[in-house]
Amino acid sequence: MKRSLGGKTVVHPAPAFVIGTYDKNGRPNAATVAWGGICCSNPPCISISLRKATYTYENIMEKKAFTVNIPSERYVKEVDFFGVYSGRDRDKFLETGLTPVRATTVDAPYIEEFPFILECSLLHFIDLGLHTQFIGEIKDLKADESVILKNNLIDIEMVRPIIYAPELRKYFSLGKFLGDAFSSGKKLSKNKS
Ligand SMILES: Cc1cc2nc3c(=O)[nH]c(=O)nc-3n(C[C@H](O)[C@H](O)[C@H](O)COP(=O)(O)O)c2cc1C
Repeated sequence: MKRSLGGKTVVHPAPAFVIGTYDKNGRPNAATVAWGGICCSNPPCISISLRKATYTYENIMEKKAFTVNIPSERYVKEVDFFGVYSGRDRDKFLETGLTPVRATTVDAPYIEEFPFILECSLLHFIDLGLHTQFIGEIKDLKADESVILKNNLIDIEMVRPIIYAPELRKYFSLGKFLGDAFSSGKKLSKNKS
């Protein structure tokens, strides 16, 4: 028996993405976003949702570009910092000591210290209410050699991404390996044909 709690914005896991943008003067900014995820395979797309009040919202509207930076767990304090303060009032790269690098395919900066990043050009935006959903076409994925497996696959166990629990407002780390996708479920099949 389940208890009804109303229309809450909770899913587990939620990501802790950091969005890199330039402002109209070319100053780099970074902001933490949990409302987001891959939304199309071809063309490769990712969605992020931002409040209109954020500097990042303004920057994406101006530049039509952003990066999605995936942090390792060792950067949990920096990730939180990026989500607490606005780039409107302060230089978040200066204060965290992290390094903005100009993306090669879009007009946005990525974070050098994070293990992998997606360079995105703005494809669509949808005003949903408090948040506006931005859909970015992923023009390139750049990764540190240390997290790239053979066949150019990204190794989640080397990335050690941060998992965010909305509502509780807590960060967690990756758990243990459970099984192979697109195959472990087949063991339940009663249809042998
Ligand atoms: C864990 C976490 C998740 C967040 N997720 C979002 C989000 O999905 N969308 C959003 O608009 N703000 C989100 N925020 C708040 C923004 O990061 C915050 O408003 C930030 O100051 C915006 O920075 P900016 O003004 O430099 O763009 C989140 C903050 C934290 C700490």
